[in-house]
Amino acid sequence: MTALPSDALVLFGVTGDLAYRKIFPALSALAARGELALPVIGMAREGWSRERLLARVRESLRDAGEVDARGFSMLAERLLYVSGDYRDPATYERLGRALGERQRPLYYLAIAPGLFETVLEGLAASGCTAQARVVVEKPFGRDLASARALSRTVHHAFAEDAVFRIDHYLGKEAVQNLLYFRFANAFLEPIWNRLYVDSVQITMAESAGVGGRGRFFDEVGSIRDVVQNHLLQIVALLAMDAPAGHAAGAARAEKVRVLRAIRPLDPRRVVRGQYIGYRDEPGVAPDSSVETFAALAFAIDTWRWAEVPFLVRTGKRLPLSATEVLVRLRRPPLTTLEPALEALPPNHFRFRLSPEVVLAAGARVKRPGHGMRGEDMELVFRHARSEDALPYERLLRDALHGDTTLFTQDDAVEAAWRIVEPVLETNRMPIPYAQGSWGPPAAALAGATGGWHDPSPEATA
Ligand code: BG6
Repeated sequence: MTALPSDALVLFGVTGDLAYRKIFPALSALAARGELALPVIGMAREGWSRERLLARVRESLRDAGEVDARGFSMLAERLLYVSGDYRDPATYERLGRALGERQRPLYYLAIAPGLFETVLEGLAASGCTAQARVVVEKPFGRDLASARALSRTVHHAFAEDAVFRIDHYLGKEAVQNLLYFRFANAFLEPIWNRLYVDSVQITMAESAGVGGRGRFFDEVGSIRDVVQNHLLQIVALLAMDAPAGHAAGAARAEKVRVLRAIRPLDPRRVVRGQYIGYRDEPGVAPDSSVETFAALAFAIDTWRWAEVPFLVRTGKRLPLSATEVLVRLRRPPLTTLEPALEALPPNHFRFRLSPEVVLAAGARVKRPGHGMRGEDMELVFRHARSEDALPYERLLRDALHGDTTLFTQDDAVEAAWRIVEPVLETNRMPIPYAQGSWGPPAAALAGATGGWHDPSPEATA
C-alpha cells in the first residue's frame, strides 16, 4: 500500500441508499472545503445517464440540508458515471478507462454485502489494486465465521492496511471526545476502575422505527445492527487502557486488547424486545422473531474492570433519540451529613454522544441556607458549536489520506463477533413492547446498579 493520498474515488453503489443518505452530503462538504481534488467515479448496475445521477445528488443534498451550492457544483464537476454488471469484466475495463493514468484509487463498496465478493474479484482481476485502498461498510459478516470469510475475500485483493472498515460512530465528534476526555485529564484515570466505578451504562435510543429499511433490518436485528459494532466500540473506548507510545496503531491495539477480555454474552443476561407493529413494516416477515430492542450486560475480565457491569441498551421506537453513557461511581460510605438519607446518591459522569455533545459530572452539593442538606447537581461541559464535520466526511477524508486510526480492523471485528455470538441465534420470541416506551422490562439486568438511566431531552440553555 502507498502512503500517498488516493488520486481517485470509485463509489460502487452510487445509485443506492447509503450514497444518497450519507456519502453525497459528505463529498459535497469535502468539495466545498476544497478537499476533493480528484475524480469521483460512480459505479452502478443501473443504466442511468449522468444527468439523472446529478439530479439524485442534488436531491440528496437538499434532503440532508446541505445547502452549499458550491459543494454541489464542485462535486458535479468531478463526478463521472460508469454503469455495468459487476460480474462482467467489461465493466472493470470501462472503469479502467475512466481512471486513465490514476494508479491509487480508493474503492468504496457502498453495496449489499452479497455483492462484495463479486466486486472484489472483478477489481483483483482488473489489475488496478496494487496501490489502491478499499472502504467496506458494515455489516462485516453476520457472525464470526462469515466475518472471517469476508476478511479472506478482501485480503485476496487488498492488504489489511489498505482496508478501511467504516463504523461511522467512530467518526462522531462526541465518540472521539470520549477517548480524548479520558486521557487528557489527570483527575479521571485514578478513579477509572473497579475501586471507584460501580457500573457503566450505555443507552442508544432511537424514536424512529425501521422506516424503509425493513428488509435489511429483518435479516439483522439490533444486536447485529448496532451492538456488535457501534456499542461495543463505545464500551472499548470507555474501558481500554491508555495507548502506549505514539505509534499510529497504539490506540487500536488497546481497544482490541480490551475487546478480547470481554466475556462472550450470557443469553440469560440479555433481554430482547420487538416493538408492536414491527411485523407490519414493509419488508418485515409477518412472523418475524427479530429484535428491535436489546438490553444486555457485558463483563470485562481485567484487573481494572472485574465485577463492574457494563450495561448496554438499544432500541427503535423508544421515547426519544439519544445516545448516552452513564458511569456511576460507588456511593460515599457514610450519611453523617444527611442522616435522613438512607444512602448518599452516587456521583456520576454522563457523556451525551448524540444528538448533542455533552460531558457532565454529577455531584452532591449543599443547598444554600440553614442545615446540612444537599441536592444533586451536574457540572456540564458543553460545546456551543455543534460538530463541524459529518462523521462520513471525516472518515472519507481519512481514508483518502490512508489514515486508518478511526477504522476497525479484522482483529477487532472478530473479537466483537466472538462476544455477541452466543446470543445471535435463538428460537425465543422477543418480548413485545409499546411504541414510545422504554422497551420491555429489563430491570433485572440493572437492578443491582440503581436501575436504568433514561436519557431525557438535553437542556440547551
Ligand atoms: C446504523 C444502523 O449503523 O446506525 C441504524 O444500521 C441506526 O439502524 C444508525 O439507525 C444510527 O446512527 P446515527 O448516526 O443516526 O446515530
